[in-house]
Amino acid sequence: MTIITQQQIQEAAIYIKDQSTVAPEIGLILGSGLGVLADLITDEISIPYHQIPHFPVSTVEGHEGELLIGMIEGRRVVMMKGRFHMYEGYGPEVTAFPVRVMKELGVTSLLVTNAAGGVNLDYSPGDLMLLTDHLNLTGRNPLTGPNDPALGVRFPDMSSAYSRRLIEVAKATAAEQDFEFKEGVYAGLLGPCYETPAEIVMLRRQGADAVGMSTVSETIVARHAGIEVLGISCITNMAAGILDQPLNHVEVMETAERVRERFLKLVLGFIPK
Ligand code: 6GU
Repeated sequence: MTIITQQQIQEAAIYIKDQSTVAPEIGLILGSGLGVLADLITDEISIPYHQIPHFPVSTVEGHEGELLIGMIEGRRVVMMKGRFHMYEGYGPEVTAFPVRVMKELGVTSLLVTNAAGGVNLDYSPGDLMLLTDHLNLTGRNPLTGPNDPALGVRFPDMSSAYSRRLIEVAKATAAEQDFEFKEGVYAGLLGPCYETPAEIVMLRRQGADAVGMSTVSETIVARHAGIEVLGISCITNMAAGILDQPLNHVEVMETAERVRERFLKLVLGFIPK
């Protein structure tokens, strides 16, 4: 376990504040294939992760992550271009370190998105699901270890992890655009392999509507830090055992690509709200 200190968070935030005149209010962490939102940020500055003190660095070659700070639709945003997953070997507290830094920069609401497998039989690839709740099935929690009361309480309430207010804003925006979100429960697992058909049956019985390998640690830390969270899953494929076909990452990326424009339009619609 890595112990994240207030000093590390502050050193990272000070470095970022030195590069940017914009104090971001909204944080964006975008999943596989949905990172195109980066192209819509104006007046942005970008800071490679490796330059930011204490920031984790990506293990994937050629995927140098960077933090973008700028404007979208008149709102000040900070966006992670590239995120960290526990299956890469990072602890949950490390994958969520950027959320701590966002809080220090002044972020009050966070949009987290991901690519997920459909577990609910009424879902289809290409659906977008608002997270109403999650199941943390990673086996880990980013808040284990000593608790610094300056960062949040020892036993945070998770009874409304995903903001009802932001869900309503997202639904209203969708209605204006003649689009309807699915709403459901996201099961976050460690990965990196996709689940077995038996595991998907188990997850469905446990109340999951979608399954993925991210998001839960970032949401837990955001709630600990008092940040409001909106979560969206792009259902890129049906989970194992539902259709008579194997799963692969190519399909995940292709569906994310197909949904991209829809997704961008929705996000541009609700960011100003
Ligand atoms: Cl089926 N499972 C998990 N864990 N993550 C996914 C997925 C499935 N499809 C996209 N991402």
